[in-house]
Parts: sequence; C-alpha cells; structure tokens
Amino acid sequence: MTFRLETDRLILRPLALSDEDDLLEYQSHPEIVRYIPWPERTRQQVKEALVKVIATSKFELIDELDYINLGWEIKSGKEQGKVIGQSNMSLKSAIDQCADIGWVTHQNFQGQGYAFEASHALIAYAFRRFPIHRIIADIDTRAPKSAALAEKLGMRREGTFKDGEFFKGSWCDMWLYAILKSEFHA
Ligand SMILES: CC(C)(COP(=O)(O)OP(=O)(O)OC[C@H]1O[C@@H](n2cnc3c(N)ncnc32)[C@H](O)[C@@H]1OP(=O)(O)O)[C@@H](O)C(=O)NCCC(=O)NCCS
Repeated sequence: MTFRLETDRLILRPLALSDEDDLLEYQSHPEIVRYIPWPERTRQQVKEALVKVIATSKFELIDELDYINLGWEIKSGKEQGKVIGQSNMSLKSAIDQCADIGWVTHQNFQGQGYAFEASHALIAYAFRRFPIHRIIADIDTRAPKSAALAEKLGMRREGTFKDGEFFKGSWCDMWLYAILKSEFHA
C-alpha cells in the first residue's frame, strides 16, 4: 500500500529499510533522544526499530493501540529524498476517541518549521479521516521546543504532572497538551 501525505516541502510516508542511514544520523544523537524513549541507537538498533515499525505500524487509527509512523522526506532541492524527521500517532482510546502525537526533527533541520508542517498535516489528516475527538501530547517540561511546537499547533497546556513519568533513570515533570477536533483549523 502506498500511503503518503504531502505538504509544501515534505512527503510524509511510511519508513522503509532503505531509510537506515538517514535515521541513524538523528536516532543516534544524544540531544535528539534525550526526551524520547529511545537509547542513542546504534546502526543495529536503528535496523531493528525499522523492522519492527514496518511490521506493526498501520495506516489507520481504528482499534486501540493502532499507530501510524511517518518519515518526513524532503521533496526538492539538494537534500531531495532525505528523511529529516518522523511523526507518530497512536490511538490511546477508541471509546474516548483520543490519539496521541509525537515528533522528532533531525538536529540539522530544526528551526525551519518542518516539525510544524508535518505535525499539522498529520493532525488534519487524523481528524478528517478517523473518528478522533481529541489529540494529546505528553511533553517533558525540560523540552521547551516541543512545548512551543504544541502551542503553535493550537494545542492547550492542560496540566503539569509532577513526577509524571519515571524516565531514563529519573522522575520527570510532564506537561499534558491537547486539542479537540472542534478547535483545530485545518
Ligand atoms: C521538538 C522538535 C521536533 C521541534 O523542532 P523545531 O524545528 O524547533 O520545530 P518547528 O518545526 O516548529 O520549527 C520552529 C522554528 O522554525 C522557525 N521557522 C522557520 N521557517 C518556518 C516555517 N516555514 N514555518 C514555521 N516555522 C518556521 C520558527 O520561527 C521556529 O524558530 P524558533 O525555534 O527559533 O522559534 C525538535 O526540537 C526535536 O526533534 N527535539 C528532539 C526530539 C524530541 O524531544 N521530541 C519531542 C519529545 S516530547
């Protein structure tokens, strides 16, 4: 199945084994993985993660734990074809029609609006295509760039959870961000 979403500068598409080199560049970077549940991945770990995501990710959010994982491929210019980040969205609860979203941008491609462009397109697609009422993001309070992105997407900070997660060996305060379908302007 060829699934893709297009934005001005990106093609959002399922990851492929051939993306290994691009993914290794950012999935092995300590600053990139600091607040996401990955180790600093080796090439072997990138390969294993790719195999798993290719086998288990879906193109729809219907049943609980369905998830979509999309690489962001540069559409044109000298970096054409390179994967410079990725989105994931999973269905947390079918009854509550609630999904959660995550994002990662390659360290050399941050500060250019790519994460906003990709995340906006995925949120628009999810609200349009599936029975989703609310999309949330759990964000570590030490990740202000991630919080800024959530706010730019129109998400509301609904609370701070003191020691909300035990993550990479320590307790972390977490922000809950959310947006309702009725609040999102595509
Ligand atoms: C969180 C993360 C994805 C944000 O990436 P980002 O590049 O800062 O986010 P955006 O795509 O929204 O880009 C915003 C910046 O691009 C600028 N920009 C340039 N062109 C733009 C455009 N066309 N549209 C929007 N913004 C644009 C904005 O002014 C903003 O700059 P600023 O950071 O100086 O204010 C990134 O920091 C990251 O990958 N972190 C590591 C992984 C991680 O922690 N993920 C989240 C776990 S909670």
